[in-house]
Amino acid sequence: MRADVLVLFGATGDLAKKKLYPALYEMEEHGELDIPVFAVASSKWTQSEFKAQAETAIRERKPDLKEDVLQHLLAELNMVSGDYGNPETFVALKAALAPFALPVIYLAIAPHMFADVTKGLHDVGLTNSARVVVEKPFGRDLQSAIDLDNSLKTLLPEDQIYRIDHYLGKESVEDLLVFRFANTLFEPVWNRNYISNVQITMSEDFGIEGRGKFYDGVGATRDVLQNHLLQVLSMLTMEPPIEMSSQSLQDEKMKVLSAVRDVQPDDVVRGQYVGYLDEDGVADHSQTETFVAMRVFIDNWRWAGVPIYMRTGKKLPESTMEAVVEFKQPPRLLFSAPGEPRPEPNIVRFRMGKRDGVDLSLQAKTPGSKLLTDKVDLTVEFAAALGERKEAYERLLDAAIVGDHFRFTRIDAVLQSWQMLSPVLENPSKLHPYFDHTWGPDEALDLVPGGWNPVGTSAIDTVEN
Ligand code: BG6
Repeated sequence: MRADVLVLFGATGDLAKKKLYPALYEMEEHGELDIPVFAVASSKWTQSEFKAQAETAIRERKPDLKEDVLQHLLAELNMVSGDYGNPETFVALKAALAPFALPVIYLAIAPHMFADVTKGLHDVGLTNSARVVVEKPFGRDLQSAIDLDNSLKTLLPEDQIYRIDHYLGKESVEDLLVFRFANTLFEPVWNRNYISNVQITMSEDFGIEGRGKFYDGVGATRDVLQNHLLQVLSMLTMEPPIEMSSQSLQDEKMKVLSAVRDVQPDDVVRGQYVGYLDEDGVADHSQTETFVAMRVFIDNWRWAGVPIYMRTGKKLPESTMEAVVEFKQPPRLLFSAPGEPRPEPNIVRFRMGKRDGVDLSLQAKTPGSKLLTDKVDLTVEFAAALGERKEAYERLLDAAIVGDHFRFTRIDAVLQSWQMLSPVLENPSKLHPYFDHTWGPDEALDLVPGGWNPVGTSAIDTVEN
C-alpha cells in the first residue's frame, strides 16, 4: 500500500541537505511526490526559516531547477521542531500526523539515536503502521548490530523496517543483476573455471569534508566497505534468484555472504592519509583508517579459490566506483611467440560511479602479416545509449513509499557482513600512511599479485585510445 505522508527526522542535517531535499525535488519534478512531507529537527526554526534552508540546499545542487516545481515542493513541506529526547516532540508529531494512516518515517540522524527515536515514535503509537527507514551504518560491529536489531524488534516488525544502503538505489549497481541474469552470454563463464579474480574499487578524491567527528569513530571499513562494497560484491557473485522479488534476492545475497570466509588481518591493508590527524573532530593519534584494501574468498562451488579484492579510500587520485572481472588466459597462447609480451586477459569492467556503463576487453588480430593480437574494447555508456538515470535517493524514497524492500537490506545479511569482518574489526591490522592523490599505501598495491587493473580516467583513456 502507498504511504500517505513522509516524515524526515534530521531535517537540518547534512544528509537531508545534500541528498534528501534534492531527491524530493526530483520526485516532485517527475510527478512522484503526491504526499505531504513533515520535517522534524531539533533546531528552533520557524516554518519560513526552515523552508529557506531547504530551498538553499536544493538550489545549490540543482542550478537549473524549474521554479514552479520548487515552489510546489516548498508548499508541501512542513516543519515540526523539538528535541528528540523530549516526549513532547513525539506528541506534537503524532498530532500533526493525525489525518494520515500510513507514514514513512525516515531517520536521517546519527545511528546512536535510532533506537531512542523509534522508541519515542512507538510510545505515541506511531509505529503501529509506520514504515521506519534507518540510515547506515546499522551498528558498528556484530554485537552492536545485534543489540540495535533487538531494540528495534521490540518496537516494530522487520517488514516495517527499511535499512538504507544507498548503493542499492543506484541504477548502475542494479545493472549488475541485469547484466548477469538477462544475458546468457556471461553466466556460463561466471565462475572459478574462467574467472581469475575480481577487483572492486570505490575511490574518492576528497577527504572527510568536515565530518571528522562522525568519521573518526567509523573509518573506511565500517563507513563503506561493510555496506556499499559488500553489496556490490554480493550482486556480482550471488546465484540467480528464482524471481526478482525482494525475498528471493535477499535469500541469495545471504547465501553468498554466508560462504565468504571470515577475513583475517593478513588479508587487509589499512591506510590513513597524511594530514588526516589535523582535520577537525579527529582524535590526536587517531588510528582510524581512511583507506582499506581487502582480499576475500568465497568458499562455494562457483567461487572457491578466486580472490576478490576490494579497496576504498579518501583522497585518492579520483572519485570512481568500478568492478573489474578478470578472466583466465586461454589454455594455450597460440598468438604470442616465446619471449613476447603475453596478451592481456579478457576483462569486464562495470563503471558505477562515473560515465556509468560496461567495457569488455577482448583480443583481436593486429594488422599485418603476423598472427599477433592486441587489446580492443567494446564499451557502452548507459546514459548515451539509454538516457539519463534517476538518482539513488529518489528511487529509495519512492521504494519506501510504495513499501518495496527490494532496494533495502535484510537483517540476516547485515549481521552476516559484520560477522565476516569481525576478526579484522577486533584486531585491526597495521595502519600505513599515504599521500593525497595516490592509490593508498604501497602495501595495498602488493595485495594483488598481477597489480590492480586501471580504473576511472586511466581505464577510460585506455578504452578510448
Ligand atoms: C556514504 C559514506 O555512505 O557514501 C561517505 O558515508 C561516502 O563517506 C558516500 O562519501 C559515497 O556515496 P556516493 O554515492 O557519492 O558514492
